[in-house]
Amino acid sequence: MNKWLVFSLGLFLLVLIACNQTENNHNGTSIDDKVESLLSKMSIEEKVGQMNQYNGFYDVTGPAPSEGDAKNKYEHIKSGLVGSMLNVRGVKNVREMQSLAVDSSRLGIPMIFGFDVIHGHKTLSPIPLAEAASWDLEAIEKSARIAAIEASAEGLNWTFAPMVDISRDARWGRVMEGAGEDTYLGSRIGVARVKGFQGDDLSAVNTIAACAKHFAAYGFAEGGRDYNTVDLGTATLYNVVFPPFKAAIEEADVKTFMNAFNIVNGIPATGNSFLMRDILKGEWGFEGYVISDWSSGEEMIDHGFARDTAHVAQLAAMAGSDMDMESYAYVKYLAQHVKDGKVPESIIDDAVRRILKVKFELGLFDDPYKYCDEAREKKLIYHEDHMDAAREMAKKSIVLLKNENNTLPLSIDQKKIAVIGTLAADKDSPLGNWRMAGDDNVAVSVLEGLKKYSSNITYAEGAKLVTGPTAFPIELEVNETDRSGFKEAIKLAKRSEVVIMVLGEHGLHSGEARSRVDIDLPGLQQELLEEVYKVNKNIVLVLNNGRPLAITWADEHLPAIVEAWQLGIQAGNAIAEVIFGDYNPSGKLPMTFPRHVGQVPMYYNYFNTGRPGPDGELFYPHYMDESHLPLYPFGYGLSYSEFEYSNLTLDASNKKEIKVSVEVKNVSERVGEEVVQLYIRDHVASIVRPVKELKGFKKIALAGGQSKIVEFVLTDNELGFYMPDGEYVVEPGQFDVMVGTSSAEVIKGEFEL
Ligand code: GLC
Repeated sequence: MNKWLVFSLGLFLLVLIACNQTENNHNGTSIDDKVESLLSKMSIEEKVGQMNQYNGFYDVTGPAPSEGDAKNKYEHIKSGLVGSMLNVRGVKNVREMQSLAVDSSRLGIPMIFGFDVIHGHKTLSPIPLAEAASWDLEAIEKSARIAAIEASAEGLNWTFAPMVDISRDARWGRVMEGAGEDTYLGSRIGVARVKGFQGDDLSAVNTIAACAKHFAAYGFAEGGRDYNTVDLGTATLYNVVFPPFKAAIEEADVKTFMNAFNIVNGIPATGNSFLMRDILKGEWGFEGYVISDWSSGEEMIDHGFARDTAHVAQLAAMAGSDMDMESYAYVKYLAQHVKDGKVPESIIDDAVRRILKVKFELGLFDDPYKYCDEAREKKLIYHEDHMDAAREMAKKSIVLLKNENNTLPLSIDQKKIAVIGTLAADKDSPLGNWRMAGDDNVAVSVLEGLKKYSSNITYAEGAKLVTGPTAFPIELEVNETDRSGFKEAIKLAKRSEVVIMVLGEHGLHSGEARSRVDIDLPGLQQELLEEVYKVNKNIVLVLNNGRPLAITWADEHLPAIVEAWQLGIQAGNAIAEVIFGDYNPSGKLPMTFPRHVGQVPMYYNYFNTGRPGPDGELFYPHYMDESHLPLYPFGYGLSYSEFEYSNLTLDASNKKEIKVSVEVKNVSERVGEEVVQLYIRDHVASIVRPVKELKGFKKIALAGGQSKIVEFVLTDNELGFYMPDGEYVVEPGQFDVMVGTSSAEVIKGEFEL
């Protein structure tokens, strides 16, 4: 046998062993074998214990359980009746809880510790909606990677993120937590976040399991009112809601899902076998496990779907909800249901296999305390590299909405700069909601950031935004009466050359249970803005907010507007770099900004309807008292540079790969970044299709005067859609292709499929 054959055979064998080794998780037997071996030793009570998650004793992220339920936690952990904890913080506390399970229970099965690591852990990055505005998938993945490094350094091994709920309703407080209104962008960002959290090796000490949530359609709550009824057709479910969840599995191997509070087709998500058995574990072949949302199981009683908690346990388990968060239903009733034949043990075994598999993949059985290293905790939390990354992410997330006569950037020689607005000095609101492990009041405020550039700055608060305590989880008391700061602010504005007004929302004006009927500037801010405007029109508005705001007056009157969201711990530094021109803004809106809340829900990828226009005729879909157009469209964002699009070419000779190319030129003198966006329209189909849909984007950098040819390929994956029964189809016919700087500013071509 010649030497080459021997060599390649040897190489093949080596590769085979290596693969097997990974699968075997270092000890010779496969993870599946280990799961089966452990499962065979477990009593039904111990199996059900793995399906039970208790809240720790540190943070409450939902309605607190009745006292009676909570008092047995320690005993249950020691008896092996608790598979997971949430909201346990810090290496010391995790070690203490873990040792109760590992050292006291019969089989010593380690618990998995979950936590809401939503936008950073201690080093808070911009809120997820802000990060989405960067359209920078690499930066978003890196942001999640850093969050995982810090969370795992604090003993945690599972995050309840990314939230991949699509939402078109700015009234809903949780839009701050997602990636906005678009399915394609939301899918790409969800995948990036899962990859960031889980890394390349889940058994590594600095990677954690991710969780695609909330399955499904939570973002379609009627009226934008959190926890409200959801009622949408299956075509929307398949084409708008499902894809980010499916992508998280197929492109990022997400290990867990969380179901939702709402109903889907009349059945609560936590008891919905269509969602969890037919779609998730059936069609999509999901091998991880599903956790309920906080008490969402118990809430099926209020929904009118379950008679009592015992019924909750039966319905949720049968439907595929593998772990129970804070309903205490499984731990109380599931074992008896199996003994009574109401729930087959095979259902329990399937759930427990899924849970144990993730624990083995995390390496928790090899070392239950692997994440509990106090030296690592001290070294990695707030690491300067994390601070730098948070600052970069924040800069990329900023969207320039208006810049008339190049008001911005300001010169560092600018004299008499007034900074007005309580949010300018606020070191807490920029941290946003869902900051769980973050410390309060640690953000660089806008004022602090600006003062690093200029000593010609004077600050006036103008008016408080909120009065009373603001500590989570209380309701905010918005200041509607105290104008005592107006006079000083107006006086300052009068004697200043330029006024930077920092207005918007408090950090707790958005997030869970924080829906608003109005999306104007809350409190006295609009009044203050107009009073200042009367004495000085040269106003740069910097928005700090967690949702799209209807800032129509500002757009009509002010020369410059910067959307600066809630940018996390480095907010003020990032904003100052944009204001003074050290960073050229490149963000694009991931959600439409309406002119008025009455237009909501509002989104760019709407259906044409039978009466699309033209404007100005009575019988077309309009409002009598407001335009039907948005204030700022999806994908919109300006730059200090200027980009021109030309030479759109299509090559549809191969129907399986439609080639698209466009020339983009930076016609300014300043280097800048541009998000080149590709949209399609399927003109005639078996179900109506949107007037445009995002199907590709590329963020490119161009020097002044530089041109680049940007290319895309459209395949069945982009050109098809789901029928109401879930069948994916690609149909022949005429398609428009649109490429441009926003969903509203495109150049168009067409092809026949
Ligand atoms: C909350 C949220 C969910 C979160 C969970 C644990 O109610 O709905 O997103 O992960 O409870 O805090």
